Amino acid sequence: MERTPCLLLLLLPLLCVSAGMPEPCEVDDEAVRCVCNFSGPQPNWPDALQCIGAVDVEIRGGGHSLEPFLKRADVYADPRQYADMVKAVRVRRLTVGAARVPAPLLIGALRVLGYSRLKELMLEDLEVTGTTPPPPLEATGPALSTLRLRNVSWATGGSWLAELQQWLKPGLKVLSIAQAHSLAFSCEQVRTFPALTTLDLSDNPGLGERGLTAALCRHKFPALHNLALRNAGIQTPIGVCAALAAAGVQPHRLDLSHNSLSATANPSAPECVWPSTLNSLNLSFAGLQQVPKGLPAKLSVLDLSCNRLNRAPRADELPKVGNLTLDGNPFLVPGASTPQEHSMNSGVVPACVPSPLSVGMSGTLALLQGARAFA
Ligand SMILES: *[C@@H]1O[C@H](CO)[C@@H](O)[C@H](O)[C@H]1NC(C)=O
Ligand SMILES: *[C@@H]1O[C@H](CO)[C@@H](O)[C@H](O)[C@H]1NC(C)=O
Ligand SMILES: *[C@@H]1O[C@H](CO)[C@@H](O)[C@H](O)[C@H]1NC(C)=O
Ligand SMILES: *[C@@H]1O[C@H](CO)[C@@H](O)[C@H](O)[C@H]1NC(C)=O
Repeated sequence: MERTPCLLLLLLPLLCVSAGMPEPCEVDDEAVRCVCNFSGPQPNWPDALQCIGAVDVEIRGGGHSLEPFLKRADVYADPRQYADMVKAVRVRRLTVGAARVPAPLLIGALRVLGYSRLKELMLEDLEVTGTTPPPPLEATGPALSTLRLRNVSWATGGSWLAELQQWLKPGLKVLSIAQAHSLAFSCEQVRTFPALTTLDLSDNPGLGERGLTAALCRHKFPALHNLALRNAGIQTPIGVCAALAAAGVQPHRLDLSHNSLSATANPSAPECVWPSTLNSLNLSFAGLQQVPKGLPAKLSVLDLSCNRLNRAPRADELPKVGNLTLDGNPFLVPGASTPQEHSMNSGVVPACVPSPLSVGMSGTLALLQGARAFA
């Protein structure tokens, strides 16, 4: 960085070094958002104290291990001693990423955050090591409305959700888990999520119908309205329908976009009974050459955009739909389905080229192994 001042101040190398070192934390002018990036070799963690007045805080650990904190912090201490200090913190939204975190440290942080007004917690690219401390007598963690995880691995495997859940007050509304390393939950340990309306399991390409059945713990999501399964390795809508029925889940909205749904369902399989609550179904970017059979008879919204439909679907092939989207199918684009062009782009309309969905290698590999474990 600061090359020119460094040349001018050759006699003051120390000053140059400090001038060239980027500050790890930046607070915006309104002190609303604070971002720390501790990617240097020897991060000065106390710089994060700058974020104490911010509402939206993001801390990236540069892949460092937070193990040393475990020695310094007494994570089993009574968090009430921090209560007054934590109540003064304004953070509503916290993102923690790129670090190795011992589970007791994570749980200790959640207990302390129990006194904060934190509503949204995002964990990304974390490796959670070790086991969690024994469960609390009462829910003591934060009253989150939203919890999002992306590429978080847990040493405890499939029991991580049940263990994490014990440290959150009930009332979580949105749970999103992408690039998961294990979605084969220990369902008997998972407690009911009484207020959870949105479950997003998108970007788990190794999940599939079988993994979905394992992840949707039966009767644990009674309030579920929205289920997102974008890019989740789903092959047939009917397989999803069966998983929903098995789990007793009754969503209103279901997103199956960005799955390869071209495989047709086994004709000898029993006909699916969709949840009667379902009114919005997203089947866009699914490589469909025809409208899948066995869709719910009536929907408010059906998105079939960006598929490979070469002719307009007949009325008897479609459910009754209030809001039908067919944009980006070859039959609507003059010339898009001519044989020559077909061989060049396999019938994909240019406007519908899927954006590269970010899926980590490590997550994908772990998922494939996980999928084998489901088998
Ligand atoms: C953090 O800083 C490193 C090095 O300066 C940079 O490569 C990386 O993109 C930064 N990460 C974020 C999330 O800004
Ligand atoms: C369906 O999914 C696609 C891709 O994920 C998205 O762009 C579109 O807005 C969704 N449609 C509806 C009706 O929500
Ligand atoms: C149909 O759905 C699309 C996408 O969700 C939305 O933009 C549009 O307003 C809807 N139209 C009607 C008539 O509801
Ligand atoms: C996932 O997280 C690990 C750290 O736990 C990191 O090494 C890896 O690069 C991450 N993968 C992606 C795709 O970001």
